[in-house]
Amino acid sequence: MSSTPVVSSNVAQLRESATIAVSQRARALRAQGRQIIDLGAGEPDFDTPGFIRRAAQKALDEGATRYTAVEGILPLREAIAAAANEANGCERVMPGDVVVTTGSKQALFNACFALFGADDEVLIPTPAWTSYYEMVELARADAVPVPGSPESGFRVTADDLERHATDRTRGVMLNSPCNPTGAVYTASELTDLVRLAAERRWWVISDEIYRRIAYDGPAAGLLSVARHRERIVVVDGMAKAFAMTGWRIGWAIAAAPVARSLTALQSHTTSNATTVAQYAALETFRRREEADAAVAAMVAEYRRRRDAALAVLRVARGPAIVRPDGAFYLFVNVSDTGPGLEDAGSAFAARLLEEHGVAVVPGAAFRTPGWVRLSYAASLETVVEGVRRLMALREAMVPR
Ligand SMILES: Cc1ncc(COP(=O)(O)O)c(C=O)c1O
Repeated sequence: MSSTPVVSSNVAQLRESATIAVSQRARALRAQGRQIIDLGAGEPDFDTPGFIRRAAQKALDEGATRYTAVEGILPLREAIAAAANEANGCERVMPGDVVVTTGSKQALFNACFALFGADDEVLIPTPAWTSYYEMVELARADAVPVPGSPESGFRVTADDLERHATDRTRGVMLNSPCNPTGAVYTASELTDLVRLAAERRWWVISDEIYRRIAYDGPAAGLLSVARHRERIVVVDGMAKAFAMTGWRIGWAIAAAPVARSLTALQSHTTSNATTVAQYAALETFRRREEADAAVAAMVAEYRRRRDAALAVLRVARGPAIVRPDGAFYLFVNVSDTGPGLEDAGSAFAARLLEEHGVAVVPGAAFRTPGWVRLSYAASLETVVEGVRRLMALREAMVPR
């Protein structure tokens, strides 16, 4: 009997996001009555700050229930442009260069779909967030992983990019602070990457969703180091810094013709991002002091948890880790728990969850087998207990 394909070749190869799959398994175990420590989710555990929630309630009462312009309400785009210009070393960002999207995920997908196509290659410093590879391939381009070295926090150099470039290369996806490593590129490292991309006329998509969650002040953004931005798309959003994952507000900043294409694409798919959520996002730009204080308080708490987790991980014979200077992830090498195994990270993560009740994401999800990612967006006690169990399992598995 011939099997009839049920979906088209557009999505036949697509797998569900591995990070979401881990959370689902953790939820299923919880439903069976198991106590699970979930260090899998990439989601702040804080509530959205009160002043933002109140702004949304007010906006609803005032009628923010209808369609807006596809690219988002003008005051929000003006505010995003003004904020971008504060640290901007290149051409001024105008409100017409800003497209508000349904989460930064949509901005990233739309940028990949609008800029890349069949036969194009896109360089992805690796490890990287799982969805970049899929988004590039949904655009029918080829994702080309560019592995960094663990010793330099997996940050890649211009030389690394050059070594993987061909005459089909069209772009590069950057992400600083990085999910899954927490590594932060310095301004001078970014300058080198941007210079090479400009010379080669590559598109640069810079995912800056974790920029404000950095432990030595906000991480350098691409607009502060680039000279020109005609081939740069900067993506950012509310989800991580403001604990607003469910509100689904992100944006892209691009040269006006690119912004128009992104808007056209969006006009045939989702139209505007949710109206009331746009007004909630606007409040974070209007009430800067409160917004900055809210972010600073959350970042201080993440730092406390990071330091506590590092203290447990860095005991004698501790595993190799990337020192996280931003975001809320720790990337841990567990390849010594399964020497000879092709993917010791997945085997380790499965055992850690099923036998010890701790959910982490296998590094394979970020194209780096042998490692696991844990999120410290959970209470300090939870994080420390999860890391202790991870270390205990590793100790039991590492051959002596
Ligand atoms: C690197 C990175 N970019 C983008 C996103 C998507 O964020 P949003 O909720 O704004 O769509 C995530 C979420 O996990 C992420 O880790």
